Amino acid sequence: MEWTRYPEYNPFSVRAALARRLSLRPDQILLAGGSNVLLYMTGLAVVAPGDPVVVTPPTFGLFELIGRFFGARLVPVDQKPGFAYDAERLIASARKARLTLLCSPNNPVGHIIPLETLETLLKETRGLVLWDEAYAEFCGRTALPLLEKYPHLLILRNVFEGVRTGRSAAGLSHRAPRTGCRIQQGEHSVQRRPFQ
Ligand SMILES: Cc1ncc(COP(=O)(O)O)c(C=O)c1O
Repeated sequence: MEWTRYPEYNPFSVRAALARRLSLRPDQILLAGGSNVLLYMTGLAVVAPGDPVVVTPPTFGLFELIGRFFGARLVPVDQKPGFAYDAERLIASARKARLTLLCSPNNPVGHIIPLETLETLLKETRGLVLWDEAYAEFCGRTALPLLEKYPHLLILRNVFEGVRTGRSAAGLSHRAPRTGCRIQQGEHSVQRRPFQ
């Protein structure tokens, strides 16, 4: 492609290749120039002022910023000493949340939220759950198999976080097609509330 051209938006050939690699369908994948962009798009699609958004400090700083940017009511579920997750509190808070933002392995502390906790949480809430596994390559566990079962799960992957090459990382979102379309179209929750 010539450098004077805009790259194709959400290119099918790349999505098809990634889908093959990850055993997903191309329509489950949404691409953007960095998962920061996908986080912003998610906030835009689902968060209206005053909506409860769960975060688990200390965690990836952008989660809180996205919540504040869209006027959410942040619900912090602090980790316990030693960075253990308070699964009970987390699930209870997620139950009432519009959006729950989780990072595993967690940036900056590297702790892991068990997939069993994620699945229980998904059963208990109708809000969107964003599971950021930018560092999945370092822990060998992924929530990808849960995608088929839970349409309100959105997984962020970072194509190059495992082999970081400067700023060239790309965000990768695997999601139920319905959810992704709404995020892609930037549908704002003030007009329509796709979740809950
Ligand atoms: C947990 C986590 N999610 C997302 C990102 C954003 O990555 P990207 O460079 O793809 O926007 C980072 C970057 O440090 C990160 O640590």
